[in-house]
Amino acid sequence: MHDVAHSFIIGSLLAASFVSMLLMYRSRRHKLPYPPGPRRLPVVGSAFHLPKEHEWITYKQWSRLHNSDILYYESWGNPFVIVNSHEVALDLFERRSALYADRPRMPMLNDLCGWSWDLGLMPYNDDWKLGRKMFTKHFRAGAASVAHREEETRCARELVRDILRDPTDLYEHVRLMYGKLIMSITYGIDVESAGDPYITNARKALFAITAAGNVGTYLVDSIPWLKYVPAWMPGAQFKRDAREWSSCAEEMAYGPYRTVREAVRAGTAKPSVLRALVEEYGEAPTKQQEYAMLSAAGTAYEAASETTWSATLTFVLAMVLYPDIQTKAYEEMQRVVGNDRLPELVDQVSMPYLTAVCTEALRWRTPLPLAVMHRVTKDDIHAGCHIPKGSTVVLNSWAILHDERVYTDPDEFNPGRFLTKDGQLDTSAPEPAAVFGFGRRACPGSAVAQDTLWIAAASLLWAFEMGCARDTTGREVEVRAGYTFGVVSYPEPFGYALRPRCGNVATLIASM
Ligand code: HEM
Repeated sequence: MHDVAHSFIIGSLLAASFVSMLLMYRSRRHKLPYPPGPRRLPVVGSAFHLPKEHEWITYKQWSRLHNSDILYYESWGNPFVIVNSHEVALDLFERRSALYADRPRMPMLNDLCGWSWDLGLMPYNDDWKLGRKMFTKHFRAGAASVAHREEETRCARELVRDILRDPTDLYEHVRLMYGKLIMSITYGIDVESAGDPYITNARKALFAITAAGNVGTYLVDSIPWLKYVPAWMPGAQFKRDAREWSSCAEEMAYGPYRTVREAVRAGTAKPSVLRALVEEYGEAPTKQQEYAMLSAAGTAYEAASETTWSATLTFVLAMVLYPDIQTKAYEEMQRVVGNDRLPELVDQVSMPYLTAVCTEALRWRTPLPLAVMHRVTKDDIHAGCHIPKGSTVVLNSWAILHDERVYTDPDEFNPGRFLTKDGQLDTSAPEPAAVFGFGRRACPGSAVAQDTLWIAAASLLWAFEMGCARDTTGREVEVRAGYTFGVVSYPEPFGYALRPRCGNVATLIASM
């Protein structure tokens, strides 16, 4: 009887949602056309035509099919706009930045999975403004990002050490390097192994972002009242998933925050971004300041770890696939650094080729192919087309970075596209800005990301010859260069072999 009553209520709510979506569909009719896009039916919109994986590739194909850099579709009553060119991105996210600075509401992540503290997902409100201000102060390009270079270099060298000890687990070693780096910079907490409770907890929490970070993956993002459905109901697997993930997400932000606060009180806190913030706001911060501090610090782990991890794996993959490029980069390394010392971040200015290789890695297989979704807060018009208020606006970074009108042979890994004829960085080359997004929500950690990727790449290149794995008969195993789909895209596991380049690699690393 209890179940029948519940089913009746859910059925009625679904019917009510259906009617309200139909009314919304009608009321949204406008005298200006929408941007072009796939066929739309009442209520469901284009829901059944949407790609289930590697959406960025389909969106680019649609963009060419409709001869339009901006696309529009609806799914279950929710409007979506896809931006496929640098020009449209500038026009919407930069020139009308206040209008496009919001994020879509994502009940699955924010309300059910415990991620509401995350700056990257927060609506454009006062909590976000304060948290972003704190974050930017400690991570922006210039003195703030330079302050983290020593830790970045230490962690990159420990990565080499870990690979020397066990050359078969690149993915795990790189992952640990970034976990360690962020815990140290942000909280002053030392992490030694992947089994560290902060790392294992963060990993579980991050799984939710991968699974639910793109709007539309879970129906509850389109029909928000579904979040009230009891977890035991058939079809409510999302509630059971969320329950498991939410305690990890909350612990990820609140746990280290409490540890550092107590350490600051006890006078034992190591220097870190959070210690600086806690000291700045004093003994009695307001609730809003306290929330902004834990948001800013917690977001650093979420935003930095998987993205930079993906970029570093792409660097290794590219070196394996393009040995000639690796040889050229290593020749530059030999000229500038040689064998008797390890590379430093100050070498970056003398090594334009490696810098171009890193930029190309970010362009070629960008870690966030659809960036992070935006939301437009008022009706808008672009090129004579109507963009309805509340639309989720998706930056198709991948399409922009693979636009053949800008990048010749975009699928080729070619660092030369960022270099002049005499091998210097070409300041007139199109900047791959889409890697880090546009406007008020653009990545505030881009300088840290670029430095970290560079020193990790330089340390790996200095220490190892990166090649294909060999089978038992000694034949090279063909490298599959597939990429995962999800919010963060990264190379599917591939066969690699990392061989130390010279005898003193281990000695130098041990002596650091
Ligand atoms: C290769 C590595 C990275 C890539 C490709 C990347 C890319 C991005 C992109 C595309 C966005 C969304 C921009 C938009 O909404 O238009 C973003 C947001 C963000 N990133 Fe990064 N990022 C990287 C590393 C980092 C690092 C190392 C940090 C911190 C030190 C960081 C902190 C953030 C934060 C806090 C946001 C949210 C901004 C907001 O919503 O206001 N990112 N990132």
